[in-house]
Amino acid sequence: MTATINDIRSFWDDRARQFGSKARATLNESPLRRLEIRTMIGQIAACRPRRVLDVGCGNGFSTKQFAARFPEIEFFGVDYSEEMIRHAGDDGPDNCRFMVADVLKPQTLPKGTFDLIITQRCLQNIPDYSLQKQAIENLRKLLSSPGKLLLMECSKNGVRQLNKVRLALGRETIGNIQPWHNRFFLDGRMVRCYGAKIIHFSSTYMFLVKVVHPRLAKIALVLPPVGRFGYDKLYVID
Ligand SMILES: C[S@@+](CC[C@H](N)C(=O)[O-])C[C@H]1O[C@@H](n2cnc3c(N)ncnc32)[C@H](O)[C@@H]1O
Repeated sequence: MTATINDIRSFWDDRARQFGSKARATLNESPLRRLEIRTMIGQIAACRPRRVLDVGCGNGFSTKQFAARFPEIEFFGVDYSEEMIRHAGDDGPDNCRFMVADVLKPQTLPKGTFDLIITQRCLQNIPDYSLQKQAIENLRKLLSSPGKLLLMECSKNGVRQLNKVRLALGRETIGNIQPWHNRFFLDGRMVRCYGAKIIHFSSTYMFLVKVVHPRLAKIALVLPPVGRFGYDKLYVID
């Protein structure tokens, strides 16, 4: 069965109804979330933007942490799930705002330009590559000059790498990493089409947790990323 955009949005509405403003409404693996947030904070600090758009911000769990860490930067979180945005609420720091908007409907996106646009596992929820491409084009039009896109999204290549190592160790492959509502990115395509630079920030974490043992998560978080084993990656487009 091919997932439709409406099915996927309903799925996220249901997650928001079920888990409200909790982190697990949008990710059930808290060490990985910590790694994502730490990585994104490092990137934001390096860019020193004035206005940041967080696309597919869900219930704003991460956006609020970015905003609290950088009080001098203005953050806008958008999501097409009204339920998610309802749970983002208005209890965040003063420098962050939330609104309902669909990245595939440019007229719904906030006005003005942004020097940094970020995603955290959003575009992989668009079920077809031609629409993902349209979403990236819509976001590029909102970038100021200079401006940067930081797309933190999951990669098919990363899943293949992990499974290769598992097979080499005589373990079965992990078959269900890409859920029904996701279409993971292809690294080669991102480099070819957008000149994306890829940061394999979850490589060490995934190698230790998904190949060696899940109990190694805490240790994995204090080690630097080595190799290309992780499927959660950061695609940087200038
Ligand atoms: C995996 S969740 C991640 C949420 C948030 N970035 C986080 O890390 O907690 C993906 C989010 O993307 C949103 N989303 C998916 N497609 C979207 C679209 N076309 N426009 C806006 N938001 C979208 C979903 O509603 C969902 O809240």
